[in-house]
Amino acid sequence: MNAAVCTEYGPPEVVEIREVPKPVAGADEILVKVMATAVNSGDARVRGLAAKGTMKMLMRIAVGFSKPRKPILGSVYAGVVESLGARVSGYQVGDKVFGMTGFNFGTHAGYVKVKANSIISLMPKYATFEEAASLIFGGQTAIYFLLKAQIKKRSSASILVIGSTGSVGTAAIQIAVCYGATITAVCSTAGKPLMESLAVSSIIQYDQEDFTKQRQTYDIIFDAVGKTTLKQCAHLLKAGGVYKTVGGIEYASENLEQLRMIKALWEIGAYQAVIDRTYTLEEVVEAHRYVDTGRKKGNVILRIS
Ligand SMILES: NC(=O)c1ccc[n+]([C@@H]2O[C@H](COP(=O)([O-])OP(=O)(O)OC[C@H]3O[C@@H](n4cnc5c(N)ncnc54)[C@H](OP(=O)(O)O)[C@@H]3O)[C@@H](O)[C@H]2O)c1
Repeated sequence: MNAAVCTEYGPPEVVEIREVPKPVAGADEILVKVMATAVNSGDARVRGLAAKGTMKMLMRIAVGFSKPRKPILGSVYAGVVESLGARVSGYQVGDKVFGMTGFNFGTHAGYVKVKANSIISLMPKYATFEEAASLIFGGQTAIYFLLKAQIKKRSSASILVIGSTGSVGTAAIQIAVCYGATITAVCSTAGKPLMESLAVSSIIQYDQEDFTKQRQTYDIIFDAVGKTTLKQCAHLLKAGGVYKTVGGIEYASENLEQLRMIKALWEIGAYQAVIDRTYTLEEVVEAHRYVDTGRKKGNVILRIS
């Protein structure tokens, strides 16, 4: 099978398309023919070993000291069950599935094998493979941070989402709205049309206005791009309010329950796919280059088959 292989840290060009052996599902595993995946900020970050100081050392420990431990990147997939191990139940060959491999990566390839008890589910009804693949990374991260911010206990919360146009930001807006929240989005002028298409109450364009100078206060501030600190934003919090950022040491953990929630929200029309660009597997270097800009709007999809 073809795969996008990354055998060293570096710029997008370190990723190469190579022919590699097709995996074989073990007794507790499912072999998925990948139809679509995404190049997420997490993939670009691992490829470029993009972290500073202590974080860089922690990253080396997590993903490989001198080169990526898992040379095939990609942590989300949507595809079709190709074969099943002898002890797997609940799935059949031909089922459309989607899921997340997390630090096991491996989805930028024709096939990926996953544990039957991993973060996998039947695909959301009526979603294309591209749409399904686009929902996962931002959705998992947003749900994790919003639940940590105790959104469930804060009825009709007012939320400031900074970095609202990325994969995490667009997911956070939609998921927070499901909890009855009112959203103020901080984005660039280029991101305004996208924000107008989602259910945000107000938009602050950070390239026209300093959002930290506003008088409005919030129950939750979620920095979905990691460009601020609590110190810069503390005065914008209501009493008892909470600040969360993707840019700190807190790392979102993904799980099956969150994947099921993503599927359910799609199926009731509450969480829509936001796809900026779609590339083929062979165009993976181009896809990494675009993700590296840090300016994508929503998600960048790789179509495999
Ligand atoms: N801690 C965790 O567990 C965790 C998990 C997932 C992701 N992350 C991190 O979270 C960050 C965002 O991830 P992502 O996948 O959503 O990234 P992304 O899709 O690349 O989106 C970044 C978005 O932020 C916007 N942006 C850039 N600078 C901004 C600023 N100063 N103020 C407001 N918006 C700004 C960009 O559009 P414009 O340039 O047009 O504004 C872009 O739409 C990445 O750094 C990623 O590594 C952390």
